[in-house]
Amino acid sequence: MLPQEFIYQLKQANPIEQVMGSYVQLIRAGSLLKCNCPFHSEKTPSCVVYADTQDPHFYCFGCHAGGDVISFIRQIEGIGYMDAVRMLAERAGMTVPSQSQDNREENMRMRLLELNRAAANYYYKQLTGPDKRGLMYLKERALRPDIIKKYGLGFAGDKWDGLLNAMQQLGFTETELLAANLCGRSQKTNNLYDKFRNRVIFPIIDLRGNVIAFGGRTIEKGGEPKYLNSSDTPVFKKGRNLFSMNFAKKSQSKRLILAEGYMDVIAVHQAGFENVVASLGTALTPDQCRLMRQYADEVVISYDSDAAGQNATVKAVNLLRAVGLRPRILHMHDAKDPDEYIKKFGAPYFRKLLEDADDALTYELKRCRDGTDPASEDGTITALHKAVNVLAGIENELDRNVYLSRVAKDYDINPEILKSQVEREIRKRRAGAKKLDWQRRITAPMLRDPVNPDATQHHAEAKAEEQILCYLFRQPDALESVLARIKPEEFVTAFHRKVYEKLAELLPQGYDFSLSLFSGEDFTPDETGRIAGIPAKYEEIEINPRTVEDCIRTLKQKPMQDVNIENLSDDEASAFFAQLRQNKR
Ligand code: CTP
Ligand code: MN
Repeated sequence: MLPQEFIYQLKQANPIEQVMGSYVQLIRAGSLLKCNCPFHSEKTPSCVVYADTQDPHFYCFGCHAGGDVISFIRQIEGIGYMDAVRMLAERAGMTVPSQSQDNREENMRMRLLELNRAAANYYYKQLTGPDKRGLMYLKERALRPDIIKKYGLGFAGDKWDGLLNAMQQLGFTETELLAANLCGRSQKTNNLYDKFRNRVIFPIIDLRGNVIAFGGRTIEKGGEPKYLNSSDTPVFKKGRNLFSMNFAKKSQSKRLILAEGYMDVIAVHQAGFENVVASLGTALTPDQCRLMRQYADEVVISYDSDAAGQNATVKAVNLLRAVGLRPRILHMHDAKDPDEYIKKFGAPYFRKLLEDADDALTYELKRCRDGTDPASEDGTITALHKAVNVLAGIENELDRNVYLSRVAKDYDINPEILKSQVEREIRKRRAGAKKLDWQRRITAPMLRDPVNPDATQHHAEAKAEEQILCYLFRQPDALESVLARIKPEEFVTAFHRKVYEKLAELLPQGYDFSLSLFSGEDFTPDETGRIAGIPAKYEEIEINPRTVEDCIRTLKQKPMQDVNIENLSDDEASAFFAQLRQNKR
């Protein structure tokens, strides 16, 4: 258990605005700090940092991410609670009090990494074993031996227990094989079996050179699924890693090539472009974009030329822009993907494609014509309206004018008229943004509790519950007497009820009280962060049995009449908030 004092000190030593400020650019807007939300893509900042409160936290009005500084680190780094604590402790030069459970987790991670390395080695050896189908397959796909070796590609044969036996001989346990996702357990026989069979294997390697996961492509025609990927394990979060980033990083290029699949990456790399990566069997994530941002300024999106690839391209453009990367888009003709293109036309032509890649705006402007008939007036007008929208989104005026004159020329229309349309659209957007901003401000004090949404309407009750919980956190022995006075179902807000239920369930079973009671699967990072924040929030405040008694009374009273602020007019809402503030005093 981490001492509450330590968590409190940790938060004190890591002011949320400083920590967040090292990931995003914070803008001061009046008394608030704001930023473009790092958890979803947006152009106007809707993420607010409440730094000067007792429980410093952030909240995004767009995607509802929120929490304290520990939650922020958990979410932005995609790591567990303890890892986040360690990271912040390191940042502040503090030492985390040691924990035996903590060591267990760390040992497990180490074992899984060892197991993955051993498995990669086993698969690699299988390529040249008696069953040569894997090697044949890779040869057919025109991969050179040096590339096969460099990527450590391998082969999983037909047997159900090939890897299983080999790994058990090396001393790895069933638990470890299951945790690494290399084996599954058969429901029928209750035995373990190899997950990857009849597949060529692509090890996924992180920036430190650890083998963290595997992808496997079937070598059988029509084999399903075509690609099988490790699901998340304690050492692998697929949304946070990029295939081949370990090599791309070394290329020292400020430009990365982003492809859809393993084979594309390897083919492009083999053709001499080592700065190529792919997301791993999922759509591109903001985390992956931030990872690229650490190494590059520009990303050439080289997705498949089919409709799915093009739709994914539009999404990728927005995600890449959101982290400050310059997207460019590669145009392939007469080939479905980079692998096929290089095979058909060769590396020099692919280099030419890279050089000719459009910047994202040119691409977006071209796409305005998609699905419209350029010969008809209707088609031209529809396309122009779309183009006006694209142009209005360009923030820099100089840039905007360059693209504007290009569009005017392309469509053969008067630039002045186009310009006035675009400016009108910009004014419209600004007015809209202002209104939204105002609405956010007025509702901020009420909506700032994404973890416990009920608290919006049951402020007093939520506070009473919080104090009861805090009392119990400090004096778990009091649980029995408090339970006798108030049942979990009498808690008004769902989130506090859940916390109270957990205490009522676990403490009688002999668990010691600790914040890690709430860091399991039943609680999201936000929720865990919030719970950790409760003791910090009341650190200096005495809560005695009398206080608890008052809190219980508050909860037993009929809750304040429900008010749905969304249905209130602006004036009514202002009056409502004024009343609330009055009540508070
Ligand atoms: N993918 C996946 N699961 C599938 C199909 C695809 O995870 N069932 C992912 C893989 O990461 C794959 C990428 O999507 O590399 C691209 O898929 P696709 O375009 O179908 O494959 P190609 O890269 O063209 O593969 P190949 O050339 O081997 O057919
Ligand atoms: Mn392909």
